[in-house]
Order: sequence, then structure tokens, then C-alpha cells
Amino acid sequence: MKKVGFVGWRGMVGSVLMGRMLEEKDFDGIEPVFFTTSNVGGQGPAIGRDIEALKDASDIAELAAMDIIISCQGGDYTKSVFPALRSSGWDGYWIDAASSLRMNDDAIIILDPVNLNVVKEGLDRGVKNFIGGNCTVSLMLMAIGGLFREGLVEWVSAQTYQAASGAGAQNMRELINQMGTVRDSVAAELADPRSNILDIDRKVAEAMRSDSFPKDNFGHALAGSLLPWIDTQLENGQSREEWKGQAETNKILGRTDSPIAIDGNCVRIGAMRCHSQALTIKLNKNVPIAEVESILASANDWVQVVPNDRAETLAKLTPTAVTGKLHVPVGRLRKLNMGEQYLSAFTVGDQLLWGAAEPLRRMLRILLG
Ligand code: HSE
Repeated sequence: MKKVGFVGWRGMVGSVLMGRMLEEKDFDGIEPVFFTTSNVGGQGPAIGRDIEALKDASDIAELAAMDIIISCQGGDYTKSVFPALRSSGWDGYWIDAASSLRMNDDAIIILDPVNLNVVKEGLDRGVKNFIGGNCTVSLMLMAIGGLFREGLVEWVSAQTYQAASGAGAQNMRELINQMGTVRDSVAAELADPRSNILDIDRKVAEAMRSDSFPKDNFGHALAGSLLPWIDTQLENGQSREEWKGQAETNKILGRTDSPIAIDGNCVRIGAMRCHSQALTIKLNKNVPIAEVESILASANDWVQVVPNDRAETLAKLTPTAVTGKLHVPVGRLRKLNMGEQYLSAFTVGDQLLWGAAEPLRRMLRILLG
């Protein structure tokens, strides 16, 4: 049995990964070894069988005893340990949720329902580094991968509505605290049906702008507001999150040499763990909506086409409906006034599942054959 090392299994993405691996009985076919950065010798996760005590995640020799390592520990860990591990001569498979290695030539971005051919071709030529994609990019491709597969996409503009979880567990807690603070700031007025709504609004705005508003993690109010910048600022005016759209999509599709233009605005909103995206897609020919729907629906087992109907959209195409679920609905499909080649779409996906943990466990399955 292959020895598979897990680093960062206790964090948010790691915990989702552990949960999914238990559901799918992924531990049955491997010898799992759990590593830690803080609790060497401690107890690993409950996976239904006895496991060794936790090993030191910075011990290169221990790591090098693994056939496969899956890291959800984050980019700083990857940057500090991965080069030393490879320099030590380790030739195993490295599967990583962090972005650090993603754009390296010797790394493949994994999203097998969309790019199994790219993954397999990489394995055939000896690639050993398999990195999970940016959540927004992966969810967009799970939703509209069919159009790319059929060669129908001239360009895509994505306007995103990204959940707090993409920024981290502490940010999710902070969002809820912000919501509570907003509510508490006007509790008395809300209890009085005759209170003035403009007074309530003014008090809420004061609370959100005050120094005492909980914002250590986001730096700003997100509850009751939004944040139209995600990740760092690049010199060309894009945010790094926006830059990833084109760079990663084309790498995932194995078409870095003839890239499809992808750009838009990435915006943080007060959802918990589902990223949503409004997509404008310029098709390279006029494809009837019925055909678009059948191409989208047939692309993978998880995409779900939601008819462009008000009631169905509001029931099925929201973060509330999709959170914790593996399916990726795409709807609001219609041609825009700009012309028959301009397709509008809206999609929602759980960014901790297909956006983070799921491609990792599936890559493990691919390696195990
Ligand atoms: N960068 C993403 C976000 C999360 O901030 O929502 C991970 O891909």
C-alpha cells in the first residue's frame, strides 16, 4: 500500500478533505501518515482505524519516506519545505491545495472532470507536482467546461461574488461577528415597529464605520457591504485574483500557448462558503440556448443546468442552496442584447469542495489507479 502523508489536515480545507475522504472510503486503499507543525507525537484524526502518532511536518527525512504527500498547510509551508524535500532527492508525488507551485512548468493544475487528459499526459511525461486550482477558476470550469471542450469560447468576462471562506476560517467567523454587530447596533429600534428606518440605517452605517467594528481579518466591513478587491494589487490594475482567471484557466485546459482571454472583477461578498459568478461569454458562433444547455449539462457529473426561470433560479442558484453540496449549478442562460454570440450565465459552487478539497482527493485516486 502506498504511504500517503497528510499535512494541514486539521485546518478548514484539510478538514473538508478528511470528511470527503471518509465518505468516499479513500483511506481504505492507502497507508495514511499524519504530520503536524505543532503537535508532534499527538493524536491524528479519527479515520476509523489505528494510526501512528503525528510526525513532524518539517522533518524532511520523515516526509521523504512517503510515496505521496497531500498538503493543505498553506503556501508558506510549501515554500519552506517543498524545495528542501525535492533537493533531498525525494521523487514522490506532491499534491497541494496552495497556490505557490501552481504556475510552475513542472506542475499541473488538477481539475480532472475538466482536464483529465492534461493530468494523464503530465503523468506520462513524469510530472510529480499536482496542484489544486484557484477556487473561482475551478468552479467556473466545472460550470462551463462543456463550452471550452467544444471550442466555442472566444472570451469570458467573470464578475465574481466570492464567499468569506476563500479568505480563511477566521474571516468566516469575522463575517458572522460583523453581522451580529450590525444587528446589535439597532436592536432597540428593530424591536419597536414604529422606529424610523432612516434612523436605523444611519446607526448601522455608523456602526460599520466605527473603529470598534470587528474587522481585524478583512480590514473593512463586509457584512452589509462588499469588497471589490481580492488578493494583492498588480501593476496592470488587476487584482491577483482577477489575474488568475486567465492564467489558470488556460493552464488547466493545457492551452497556455493559445490563451483564451478571461477577465473581470473579483468581489468579496457576505456569503459563507459558496462563490458565485456572473459570466458574459462571447461564443465564436451563434449556438442556440437549447444546445448550450445540453453541452453544459453533459460536460461532467456535477454540473447542473438550472432553467432560466425565476422560481427555479431562486430555489437552486444561491449560496444558501448550494453550500456543502458537490453539484455546481449554472443558470440564467440567455443571449444578451449585444448579439446572438453573447451568452450570459450565472453559477454557484462550494469553494471548499470543488474549489479546494475535492480535486486533491480525486488526484490521489488517479495516482492509486
Ligand atoms: N483566492 C480565493 C478567495 C480562495 O480569496 O476567495 C482560494 O482559491
